[in-house]
Formats: sequence, C-alpha cells, structure tokens
Amino acid sequence: MDRKRETWATKAGLILAAAGNAVGLGNLLRFPSKAALYGGGAFMLPYFISLLLLGLPVMLIEWVIGRYAGKRGHGSMTGILGLFFGHASWARAIGSLGVAIPILIVMYYIWIESWTLGFAFLSLFGAMPEPVITSDPHQAMEPFVTFFKTYTAPSFTAGVFLWITLVLNWIILQRGVVKGIEITAKIGMPALIFMGLLLGVISLSTNNWIGIEGLKFIYNLNLSGLKDPMTWIEASGQIFFTLSLGMGAIATYASYVKPKEDVIKAGLWTAGINEFVEVIIGASIAIPAAFAMFGALAIPELAKEGTFRLGFMTMPAILMSLPLGKLLAFVWFILLFIAALTSSLALTQPLVALFEDEMKWSHTRAVTFSMLLVVLGAHLCAYIPNFLDELDFWAGAVFLLLFALIEIIVFIWVFGVENFYRELTLDTSIKLPKSFVYFTGTISPLFIFFIGYFWFSEKLLDVLKEPDPYKWLARIFILLFIVFLAVIAVISRKRVLEGPRI
Ligand code: ALA
Repeated sequence: MDRKRETWATKAGLILAAAGNAVGLGNLLRFPSKAALYGGGAFMLPYFISLLLLGLPVMLIEWVIGRYAGKRGHGSMTGILGLFFGHASWARAIGSLGVAIPILIVMYYIWIESWTLGFAFLSLFGAMPEPVITSDPHQAMEPFVTFFKTYTAPSFTAGVFLWITLVLNWIILQRGVVKGIEITAKIGMPALIFMGLLLGVISLSTNNWIGIEGLKFIYNLNLSGLKDPMTWIEASGQIFFTLSLGMGAIATYASYVKPKEDVIKAGLWTAGINEFVEVIIGASIAIPAAFAMFGALAIPELAKEGTFRLGFMTMPAILMSLPLGKLLAFVWFILLFIAALTSSLALTQPLVALFEDEMKWSHTRAVTFSMLLVVLGAHLCAYIPNFLDELDFWAGAVFLLLFALIEIIVFIWVFGVENFYRELTLDTSIKLPKSFVYFTGTISPLFIFFIGYFWFSEKLLDVLKEPDPYKWLARIFILLFIVFLAVIAVISRKRVLEGPRI
C-alpha cells in the first residue's frame, strides 16, 4: 500500500518529542544510582568524556541518517541499513537488531513505567506505608522495601496498572506520530521540567539546604574514575541509554522530519534537553534528598541495593515524611511516569515503522501487532524472575554498544565520508567541518572497542557462568526474538523492492 509517511507538525513538537524520546527513567533513576555507586565526582569525568566522544557524534549520525532514510520511505533500522546495501537480505537482517533492541528494552521498561503510575496513585490515595521518622536509612526504608517487594511480586494492583500503562501507550501510538506522540510530548515535557525543577528545589533545601552537599558529591570532579574500567563501562553505557542511542529510536524519530529539517540543531537540542534533565534536574533530586535525610555514608550503601532503591524506596520514604508528603510523592512518581511514557512510545515506534514501511501494513495493523508483542514481553518481565535484569543487561547495555559500532561503520565508511558529509551539511545552519566525520569515524569506534574489551574481560564470563535457568530462558527469548525480526526483514524485502519508489 502506498501511503504518505507522517512528518512532525511543528518544530517545537519535533524537539519536544525527541527530548521526550531521550529523557526517561535513565535520567531520573539510572543516572543518580550509577553516579552514587561509582563515587559521584569520580563517575562524572568518564561520563562527560563519553558524552563528547560517543554521545554527541552518534546522536548527530542518527539524526542525519534518519532524515536521509525517511525521505526514502524507511524509518526502522531494518530498512535503513538495507538502503545502504541495495536491500540485501543480510543487511536488512543485521539492521533488524536495531529494531529488536528498543523492543526488548520497552518490554521491561513499560513494566517499570507501570510501577511509577501505580505508586503515584497509591501515594495520592494514602495506600503507601506511613513514613518512619528516623535518621537511620534502614529503619526509615524498611516499610517501603517491603511494600516495593510485595507490589512488584507482582501484586494484583501491579497487574492492573501494567494494563492501564499498556493501553495508554497503545492508544497514543494508534493516534499516530503527530496526534499521538507529538501532542503527548507537547503537554508532557513542559510539565516534566516544571515538576523536576520543583522537586529539585525541595530536595536541595531539605534540612536547611544540606541537600546541596549531595549535589557537591556529584560535582566534586576527581580523576580516580578514569583509572577504573568499570566506571568507564557504566559511564559510557549510561550515555547510550540516556540519549537513546544505538537503539534506533532516535533515527526512527528523525525519519519523520520534513525533508529540509535542520537535523544538527534538532540533535543538539535533543542532547541538550536530555543533559539538562539528567545532570541538573536528575542530579538535584534523589541523591541530595537522601544526603539531607541520611547523610553522606548512606549514599553508596543505598546505590548498592540497585537502581530501584533510590527512586522507589528512598524517595517515597523521604518525601512522605515532609509536609504535604503524599502530594510530593505523587508528583515524584508522575514525573517518572511522564518521563517513561514519552520514552516507551519512542522505543515502540521503530517496530511500528518496520511494519508500516517494510511490510506495508496499515497503521492500525502495525500498532496492534507491535503492542501485542510488547504486552507479551511485559508480562514475561513481570511474571518470570530475572527476566527484566537479563533484558536490561543484553538489550539495555551490550547490544547498544554493538549496534552503535555497526551504525558508525555503515553510515560513515560504507556510505562514504563524502556522501555522509554532504548529508551532514545539507540544509543545516551549523556547518561542521569534515574533520568531524573523520574524528567520529575513527575515535568513536576505537572508544567502543576499548569499552568492549574491558567489558568482555570484566563482566561477560562472570555473567555467563551464573547457572540461573530463568536467565537462560530470557536469553533464549532474546535470541528467538532477534531471529523473528530477521525473518521479517528478509520476507519484507520483496515488498520493498517491488513497492513504489519514494
Ligand atoms: N533514553 C531513555 C531513558 O533515559 C530510554 O530512559
């Protein structure tokens, strides 16, 4: 079926949607936990270096290539990679990894997103535990830890909120790029920034502004992290996750721009807003609040307990003990929910684009099938132990680096430096020098190799040695899912080659 692809209706809508794509749980939950775990200021130098050497270059590549592919009727990595190899089956199959990644992520991401919605309403209606007023973090958090465990076991309520979240995502995606995703971002993103700033001020000012010490802990930059491979792995992984890079999601959004859109500006806005929400707002809430309530020593202890400890247990324990506590806890969880919602839409859209652009399915059919897969994956994550962690480990960390490497090689070296440079400078107001392309084509892959090497030697063998059957189940699922998308990539090839040229 020959159908005109949608384009973002307004520039503001495009920027807010792209910012919503990037800004997510990564900024408000993952970032503070990682920063706390890896020594605050020690984490930040590898973080900023990764942002400059990997994050910004890959962000611009995805925008440039997304616009290029969108003009030619492709918005999923299956079609995008295919474009550069005459739609050879193998190239489309490799590209489908760039569709598998966001969907495998959204399967667990949407489950966590539903907790935020559930916790928001349970806080507001007084169904959360009563706060224990003490400076001992373990005592203060005990009721919230029990509550969290019971809720995510999962409880019946958790199942209901999962369905509410799934249906909401479904409805928005069904409304399409402009009427669904763009409108959600236009309403959600300003609200998110406002609530984030409000909670930041509250956290920093807790206990006579002791919270500021928490911010200082993050910004007390020091060189010690530079020597630690694990800090590099986590800091660069955080950059990929938070900017939604190496997962095809940015390129898919970029494929919906108007043909002459200034993609450099759009890329810089996306990264700029994301970093503002991460290193200003994200840094000002959970760690400062915990610092003010429980002191410096509690921070690494809390972070060691995992990504969810600070956001789902420490934060409600603190906020509920303040005046208007229920309302503040509601604001915190709704803030997380909006951040997550705008990202889960972005993580699902590549699959919708795959079905629409490659299989030539109608929008309704594409959204229905995509969401059914998300529903299946979300339930596996909710009901099978360790499924969530395993999907996060592979899709949310390892594959991102691998796919970013593929992107750089194909989009710069296979496409050709000249061709890529022409696209990079086409209709853009900031003309980057050609040396940027050479730099990105060499330094970024070297950086990824370096991280990959440490990762193999530090982590992979230990991970594979764990004899957990649930983890193996999750790994088999991941593999089958990748194979399934590769098969779709191959069978849709004929439709693309026979279809009308755009
Ligand atoms: N970039 C999204 C986040 O940070 C996936 O949560």
